[in-house]
Amino acid sequence: MADAMDPPVFEGVVYQIYPRSFLDTSGDGIGDLAGIATQLDHLVWLGVDALWLSPIYRSPMADFGYDVADHTDVDPVFGTLADADALIAAAHERELQVWLDYVPNHTSDQHPWFQASRSSRDDPKRDWYVWRDPAPDGGPPNNWRAAFADVPAWTYDEATGQYYLHQFLPEQPDVNWANPQLREAMLDVLRFWKDRGIDGFRADVVHLIGKDPAYPDDPPEVAGVGRAGHHHLPEATAPHLRAIRRTLEAPPAAVMVGEVNLPDAAQVATYVGEDLLHLAFQFSLIHSPWRADHWRDIVRYVQGEFDAVGAWPTWVLGNHDNSRVASRVGRPGAARAAMVGLLMLRGVPFLYAGDELGLEDAVIPPDRVVDPGGRDGERAPIPWDGSARHGWAGEPWLPWPPAPEARNAAAQRADESSMLHLTRRLLALRRAETSLRTGGQEVLDVADAVLAFRRADDSGTHLVLINYLDEPLDAEVAGDWRIVVASDGAGEGGSYTGRLSPDQAVVLAEGER
Ligand code: GLC
Repeated sequence: MADAMDPPVFEGVVYQIYPRSFLDTSGDGIGDLAGIATQLDHLVWLGVDALWLSPIYRSPMADFGYDVADHTDVDPVFGTLADADALIAAAHERELQVWLDYVPNHTSDQHPWFQASRSSRDDPKRDWYVWRDPAPDGGPPNNWRAAFADVPAWTYDEATGQYYLHQFLPEQPDVNWANPQLREAMLDVLRFWKDRGIDGFRADVVHLIGKDPAYPDDPPEVAGVGRAGHHHLPEATAPHLRAIRRTLEAPPAAVMVGEVNLPDAAQVATYVGEDLLHLAFQFSLIHSPWRADHWRDIVRYVQGEFDAVGAWPTWVLGNHDNSRVASRVGRPGAARAAMVGLLMLRGVPFLYAGDELGLEDAVIPPDRVVDPGGRDGERAPIPWDGSARHGWAGEPWLPWPPAPEARNAAAQRADESSMLHLTRRLLALRRAETSLRTGGQEVLDVADAVLAFRRADDSGTHLVLINYLDEPLDAEVAGDWRIVVASDGAGEGGSYTGRLSPDQAVVLAEGER
């Protein structure tokens, strides 16, 4: 059984806020920093430890903030730098950490660095981006495709007669970390925000920053697929991660979770370690069907791969790039059971705002589509109450998710049987019990359609059982156990009978108390 030998760098639960969609106070229908500030007490009540804000930097919003035009200012739609300072201070007063998205692989094409870089081949910032001569036929330097747009990953610049690289939109040119001045400028961004009180960073597609200087063609089997994830070279990225780590550790220290968006947790784990990333996302559960055998394999595999490098894993069920978990699993009861898994597994959980309300993806009519990557559904506004605009000052930029009259924060706070209250009970339990926070973990074979795992340390043992079917199941475990939390609230405080209700997940503690 994996034990608690490696203390995690961060023991808490991170709550991801997509600022555009959280809460609008200004009336323009776009969420803002002031809106986030009004909900801090609610988030303390819920019991999360840190907020991660998707990008708030000044941006033309071609990729809704992942195209940064000024790393040291807040976009006016979100507020001002003073609003950011106020939010950080208000969060700290409540012992909430604030983590910021950091976008190291590219900038906006409107960033002054890129404007200078494209101005002439002799500009001192030319080498801050990736410029290459055309192929002999005048076409792009290689066969890479951009993500989100059906175009090559290279765009020709008439004025200077070369192509620039963009693994995402043409408006998101890749920067060149091999250039020492660019690298220092990117490290300065971390220093700037650490000095303002930011406690941690989420590093966007950080595995892409080290480039293969040969820029080889994609092999035929993946050519044209447009998956930026293929162009990663761990040995080219590692030295930059070391520089980032040194920068993070200089006081005031901050932690980083890297979005190492690779399909295999074993690959992800190689980016984490003593002098590399503190943490990295692994998205296995997002890509898994709602099936016990898949989850069992994933939990065992992830645990093995991260233990092997002495690192603490992360768990993610939702974010701004993927269909919401409630939509993926289909049944509301299953979404509640999935929340039990997310918050009880050994590692750092990342909770996507709105998943605690059981929100599903919004249905986006064709004339309301705004994201080039097809991700509007999971970015729908959060409904805060049952009023006409659900607490928003202006009509939101995207349609509401389904059933906002019931799935809103106020209605669920008033109802102890709600998913919001379930999430709160799970977070409180995780806070109270070190075995569930930092204890070891062992996956048990209890029944085919059940994921069962034991969490334990010197202070005690808990068992977690999840039924993946919408029918009752026998799931006997040896010994006397009582139900501490049940995903449907049924039987909490009573003894566990060895039988799970449809879609039920339970957290059990030993004996009577
Ligand atoms: C990451 C972000 C995504 C963004 C992309 C390019 O995958 O999560 O939202 O579009 O990087 O920055």
